[in-house]
Amino acid sequence: MDERPIGVFDSGMGGLTVLHECLVTLPHEDFVYLGDGARLPYGPRPLDEIRRFAAEVAGYLERDGVKLVVAACNSATAAALPDLQRHLTVPVVGVLAPEAHAAVLATRNRRIGLLATAATVASGRYSELVQALDAGAEVVAVACPRLVPLIEGDDPFGEETTRAVRDYASELRAADVDTVILGCTHYPLIRPIFQRVFGRGVTLVFSAEETAREVAETLARKGIENDPEREGGYRFLTTGDPEQFRATGARFLQLPISAVEHVEVATLAAAAV
Ligand code: DGL
Repeated sequence: MDERPIGVFDSGMGGLTVLHECLVTLPHEDFVYLGDGARLPYGPRPLDEIRRFAAEVAGYLERDGVKLVVAACNSATAAALPDLQRHLTVPVVGVLAPEAHAAVLATRNRRIGLLATAATVASGRYSELVQALDAGAEVVAVACPRLVPLIEGDDPFGEETTRAVRDYASELRAADVDTVILGCTHYPLIRPIFQRVFGRGVTLVFSAEETAREVAETLARKGIENDPEREGGYRFLTTGDPEQFRATGARFLQLPISAVEHVEVATLAAAAV
């Protein structure tokens, strides 16, 4: 039995969609979530810079005493997962491989679409992962820089979001994909808009549930689970504004958020692995 918490991080609040699934799948575990709100968004940044931020945030969580780190951010996973796995002593789970796996299983015509941030698309990691599983499958990737600000904004389900989704989807529809990876932690929040634009014939894949399953399997294989009879808790840290995190975060987590602690970017920088 291992009583240490699980660390989950994201550039901001999108990773709360992953935390939500982890809390449902592993109700007996404790979680600490760190959102790097002061440096959000990661998506438009160069991969090197995202790699540095991820090393700081994950290093901080490891020093804080977590037993496993979940990189609950597609951009951070795309840029930094191998580096984090090399430099941390605790296991690190990312969000790309579970989605790539689910997409390869779901596609019938082996044409897979990807909607993600510019960094995730630029990394080429989804194509590598898909082709490692099925060398004949093709990934058509579209960067969607307008979506994260719209989803974080005041009117995530408004006309402008629908228009942006339609624009980004048009290239994938023209490419005749039958499966689309929603490769960003924010996108599950507007899943109904994607589903309406693509129609029922296209399978949408997103990672929160698959990632939670991988976390559970990793804990079990390594024998570092907490007592299954207990009820776990969760707490939050942000480099941004704690009040804003609390107010907007509940939309992503769909569970209550009470206290949120502030942590300085300089404190993270000192913890880099
Ligand atoms: N969390 C990021 C991702 O999943 C989206 C937000 C950002 O650009 O930082 O790619």
